[in-house]
Amino acid sequence: MRKCGISIVARLDEAVQDAAVRVVASVRNRSTIALAGGGTPKRLYEALTAPSWRQRVDWRAVQWFWGDERAVPPDHADSNYRMARESLLDPLGVPAGQIHRMPADARDADAAAMAYEQAIRSVAAPGPDGRPALDLVLLGIGTDGHTASLFPGTAALDETERLVVANDVPQLNTRRMTMTFPLLLAARSIVVFVTGADKAEIVSRLLGPRRDTNLPAARLREAGHRVTWVLDAAAAARLETPPAVP
Ligand code: 6PG
Repeated sequence: MRKCGISIVARLDEAVQDAAVRVVASVRNRSTIALAGGGTPKRLYEALTAPSWRQRVDWRAVQWFWGDERAVPPDHADSNYRMARESLLDPLGVPAGQIHRMPADARDADAAAMAYEQAIRSVAAPGPDGRPALDLVLLGIGTDGHTASLFPGTAALDETERLVVANDVPQLNTRRMTMTFPLLLAARSIVVFVTGADKAEIVSRLLGPRRDTNLPAARLREAGHRVTWVLDAAAAARLETPPAVP
């Protein structure tokens, strides 16, 4: 299996542009994209709305999903949906019918997860393994090695059939909704965007010479060359060959 790609750039603004290049390269008309949540991707989303990037793709022809969501309403400050709507989708003028909010706040979370999976199946063409192959999945990494809402020790890590599940996260005393590895690893392209000194330790445990294969995000390596990690120098500082920072 060909190895994943690792792109290390010195400064945060360069990492944002590097990630934007990879996002645009992965998108074609009628693409399906799963957006990352948390705080890191906001700069990337804002960059994609700048004239130099927004005119490169017919963003309005994309079907937009989320890799995971918190159990909060769509207007909540912690909502991944709200962050992406405000920083990316609304500025790009994406039609509401192509924006598929992950309903992690639904009363029946399991039924809502199954419905979300069906929505994905209805627009994403199957890949070689028969599972829907999203054109692009954007992901971040937590300092505990989680990605999406696949946290260490949680049930969703062991899911082999369902593509979207509700996932109890005891360490956060909350419930999330998340895409599972069977879906994430079927994507045609995965961009893992990680910046900042606070991620240097976990990045070294995931990509360094003494990898911790028990970390949830370590499984992204199963997607081989379809995964690209975009890191700034701060996040890559504990890797063997950090870039020469000017
Ligand atoms: C979420 C994200 C999660 C995120 C990491 C990193 O809902 O929180 O999907 O997987 O990518 O926790 O978050 P930061 O970018 O805020 O460090």
